[in-house]
This record gives sequence, C-alpha cells and structure tokens, in this order.
Amino acid sequence: MSIVLIGFMGVGKTTIGNLLSEHYDKSLVDIDTYIVETTQLPIPQIFEKYGEKHFRDLEYQALKKWIDQDVIISTGGGIVESELCKELLKQNDNTFWLKCDVEILFNRINHDNNRPNANGKSLNELKTLYSKRELSYNEIAFKHIDANRPREVVASEIIESL
Ligand code: S3P
Repeated sequence: MSIVLIGFMGVGKTTIGNLLSEHYDKSLVDIDTYIVETTQLPIPQIFEKYGEKHFRDLEYQALKKWIDQDVIISTGGGIVESELCKELLKQNDNTFWLKCDVEILFNRINHDNNRPNANGKSLNELKTLYSKRELSYNEIAFKHIDANRPREVVASEIIESL
C-alpha cells in the first residue's frame, strides 16, 4: 500500500515525500510531475487550455494508477476538489495530512506562476480556499501532522507512526 501525503499548496509534500522515499527506498510519485510528464504540458497551460475540471480528471487517473502500489505519493493541494479522489484517499490507511498555517503558506506561494490557484491571490482569498479544503483534508486523513516544523522532524514523525 502507498503512503500518501495531502495538504495545501506549499506545505512541503514533495520535500517530505523525498525524505520518505530515501528512508524506505521506495519511489516517490509526485502526481503533479506525473501529469506534466504524461501530458507534456505545464500545469498552468493545462488549466488554461482545458480547464481545472480536466486537470482534476487527470489527477484522478494518476491517483487511481498509483494508490495501490508500493510507493510514496505526493499529491497536489487541490486533489480534494475531486469527490472520486476523496473516495480513493479515504480508503488508504496511510494518508497523512500535512498541516501548516495559511499565513506561512501565503508567502511561499502567492507569487508562484506555476500555481494557478495561488498566483496573484490575496491572503483572504487563500484563507477562503484553505478553510474549504481543510474540511476535506480532515475528513480523509488517517493522521494529521504538524508541518510548521523542520522537514526532517515532520518526516520522522510520519515514519514513527507507521
Ligand atoms: C493545486 C495545487 C498544485 C497543483 C495545481 C493545483 C491546487 O499542487 O496540483 O497547481 O489547486 O491547490 P501543490 O499543492 O504541489 O502546489
């Protein structure tokens, strides 16, 4: 069964996924990277050309392909926008929610033009999105991890809890 990291944009899912990947000597599947590689399109272009709904479909296809494999999965922060993805994630006992204050995340992501759902957004807009998604992260995750700490500490807590 895979180990899956969920949480808002900028929380460190890929970095922590890499630490887990090294520790367990298992591959890291970054869903965003997988989509970019398979479509040969950067994420902002997928959003622009085909719309967010299409991106969510691609996320679902990717998650379905990998979730039962023996890998570490780093998801995109919006994966909980898809009910189908939520159902898959709920069935996985190793889904970890990396939790971090939205004020900290805002400074990391609001000028990132590779993140269409964050780029140019105000703190209030991001807080609204975060509050909505928080309910889903909370509902889905097997465990909540405080990600307001050094990444090595976060990874160690995940490893100890498994
Ligand atoms: C998104 C988060 C991104 C990426 C896409 C949409 C979102 O992943 O999937 O830009 O809607 O929150 P990260 O959480 O890795 O930034």
